[in-house]
Amino acid sequence: MVKLRIKEILSLDGNNSEITVEGWIRTRRESKEITFIEINDGSTINNLQTVVDKKIENYESIIQQLNNGSGVTIRGRLVPSPGQGQNVELLADKIQIHGDAPVDKYPLQKKRHSFEFLRTIAHLRPRTNTFGAIARVRNAMSFEIHNFFQSRGFLYVHTPIISGSDCEGAGEMFQVTTFKLNEAPVLDGEIDYTKDFFGKRSFLTVSGQLEGEIYACALKNIYTFGPTFRAENSNTARHLAEFWMVEPEMAFCDIDLNMDVAEEFLKYIFASVLEKCKDDMEFFDKRICAGLLKNLDHIINSEFIRIDYTEAVERLKRSKNNFEFPVKWGLDLQSEHEKYLTEKLFKKPVIITDYPREIKAFYMKANNDNKTVRAMDVLVPRLGEIIGGSERETDYEKLQNRIDEAGLRSSDYWWYLDLRRFGSVPHSGFGLGFERLVQFVTGMQNIRDVIPFPRCVKTLDF
Ligand code: 4AD
Ligand code: MG
Repeated sequence: MVKLRIKEILSLDGNNSEITVEGWIRTRRESKEITFIEINDGSTINNLQTVVDKKIENYESIIQQLNNGSGVTIRGRLVPSPGQGQNVELLADKIQIHGDAPVDKYPLQKKRHSFEFLRTIAHLRPRTNTFGAIARVRNAMSFEIHNFFQSRGFLYVHTPIISGSDCEGAGEMFQVTTFKLNEAPVLDGEIDYTKDFFGKRSFLTVSGQLEGEIYACALKNIYTFGPTFRAENSNTARHLAEFWMVEPEMAFCDIDLNMDVAEEFLKYIFASVLEKCKDDMEFFDKRICAGLLKNLDHIINSEFIRIDYTEAVERLKRSKNNFEFPVKWGLDLQSEHEKYLTEKLFKKPVIITDYPREIKAFYMKANNDNKTVRAMDVLVPRLGEIIGGSERETDYEKLQNRIDEAGLRSSDYWWYLDLRRFGSVPHSGFGLGFERLVQFVTGMQNIRDVIPFPRCVKTLDF
């Protein structure tokens, strides 16, 4: 017999055919002669209503265990449902309980739990509607990300997770070592890393970009999609210490084309998710973030705003808003500024370009004004920055100067500089924070709820 998932079962006619369902009980309701249980197997947000008649074989022995949370296999007949809310229901003939979940001990009882509480039971939260839906949307989006790039001829490149260089130059890296911390060998008053595992200092990568550039400068269009790590001390609803990043890198590509790809990419993902995860997205619209579907639809069908940093600063200065942080040319935009631009002023995604060089990474191409670089950040309502990217500096001397200026050791970047010595071509790319994307698409408030096991400052519970 073929095992059907509940998603498929719910689309069948109730023609009395015999089927078997495997899953976990979500709710239980009793009336005089029968007990109703709802089964979920993760294939869809919808449950299969199952009717358990007191007359079935082992009713007395199993009824105590037919609780919310129990894992069951049920054989029965699928019939049209007289009740509301479902077309078909299962009349149980035989129920096997694999493991029950005692009502007085199982933490996930019917009432709605807070997301904070659910974070403390990350091993059980995928059994709730919200976290099941997030898992399905995350899965669909990962797949569509590959689809987008694969159908356009981009190669998927696996960049390393352990790295010897700091891509963003922000010094926010986790160190990787096999030294015992209090027994690290010392030479001339400093830790002797020649004795460490790799013979030099090493870190968890903050981005796959630099290695991605190597492959783009040989194979033209590539992308990476992998975990990245940042020891940022930011305890906010949009920062993780471990998150996934999608990073395309394109040779023979300038900042304008880079922006076109970023915009097309986001719209493609939004449209695919609305199509592929219809039920889940309706759930998010109804229960998590009112107006979500309408808003995504609006974004898919309109053009992103593109302005440069200087204009953004002017617009912010002109606004009547009372910002907590100062607005001044040369200072980085704060989340409140990004929100004002995307939510109040333009009411849609905004791409900001040409930031002051002092506040951006060393690899960004310098503009002729010598003050700004060809950066492009995509900002969205509710979240602010979702994508950061740029055209890359291709001039050897300029890049060398920027590396020195940033206080980095150019000996760590000799291979990166080499790309500018041999066959250097214009190239650009960007990084999309995958969890911020999931947050945006689902309307979830906190980034810790869109990754199965969040790692943040002072938080590593699972
Ligand atoms: O703007 P960022 O730092 O850019 C880079 O890392 C470039 N190397 C990307 C490139 O050009 N290939 O990070 C890119 C995106 C941000 O826009 C944000 O969405 C996400 O990564 N991000 C984070 N997401 C969750 N938690 C954090 N701590 C994040 N830091 C960045
Ligand atoms: Mg950034």
